[in-house]
Amino acid sequence: MFAVESRSLTKHYSRGRVKALTDFDISVEQGKIFSLLGPNGAGKTTFIKLILSIVEPTSGDGLILGKNISDPSSRLKTGYLSENHRLPEFLNAEQFLYYYGRMSGAAGYELSKKIPELLKKVKLFDKKDLKIRKYSKGMLQRLGTAQALINDPDIIFLDEPTDGIDPVGRIEIREVLLDLKNAGKTVFINSHLLSEVERLSDEIAILKEGKMIKKGRTADFLESTGRYKISVETGRTNDLYSLLDGKNISYSKKDSCAEAAIEDNAVLNDIIDKLRSEKIIITGIEEQRTSLEDFFIKVVN
Ligand SMILES: Nc1ncnc2c1ncn2[C@@H]1O[C@H](COP(=O)(O)OP(=O)(O)OP(=O)(O)O)[C@@H](O)[C@H]1O
Ligand SMILES: [Mg+2]
Repeated sequence: MFAVESRSLTKHYSRGRVKALTDFDISVEQGKIFSLLGPNGAGKTTFIKLILSIVEPTSGDGLILGKNISDPSSRLKTGYLSENHRLPEFLNAEQFLYYYGRMSGAAGYELSKKIPELLKKVKLFDKKDLKIRKYSKGMLQRLGTAQALINDPDIIFLDEPTDGIDPVGRIEIREVLLDLKNAGKTVFINSHLLSEVERLSDEIAILKEGKMIKKGRTADFLESTGRYKISVETGRTNDLYSLLDGKNISYSKKDSCAEAAIEDNAVLNDIIDKLRSEKIIITGIEEQRTSLEDFFIKVVN
């Protein structure tokens, strides 16, 4: 059984003039981190809203853990962090999580144990008494993430979770999401931060103008370019270039290194042997792969 499935899910707004999502099919496996990517207005938020029945589909349908999305009980084991959320500013973090926890059906005694744990998880425990009005953007995102976990969901939908969060905060959120995955939860993310998605996700789907462009395992998006970046100690770069010239290998010169087209592992090993025999210190060998960003720009343009 899949965590989330959609079948020809379609949402057209404004009497069909805005085709937010058209015939969208995906199957998200349980226990995986799945990311939906796409430029602004591609339909990512619309998809999450459809799956959580915040908006009604124009046609098609969806399932959460095998239950049709038209059945409200399909949402019992889900958590959701919406984009551009507004949290009640007059509450502090603890009161806010208590309020949302009670709405999700949890008993007060359960929450008094759960809330401190969650606040520690998102590194806000020492700010628990501060009114939300005084929170920074990153703190609001972290608190929103804690809110999405208050009912101990099996599937967590996060719409731009790291929006406005600094690099250290992003690493912390990433750790929270990986912990969830390790605990067997399914995480569904909408994001623009491609390098982050590349590190975190098991599967990716790319949307453009409401239509699926490509979906697959993250590794399938990161193809090898057949090029290696070879760096050597300063002062010996010319020796590296002559070696590559001698082997008729095409390369481009970069500062103190060469980016060379090497198809074959044996050739690469031969180059390493030659460099070592000439006592040239190799400072790095890196296989050049297309990044998710390269792929995204190519398909979206
Ligand atoms: N309530 C609405 N009425 C009319 N059009 C809407 C409505 N909600 C969304 N749209 C349109 O649907 C399209 C998809 O919007 P959506 O918010 O799903 O995109 P998105 O991929 O989440 O974008 P972003 O990256 O900016 O968050 C856009 O053209 C948007 O203007
Ligand atoms: Mg959106």
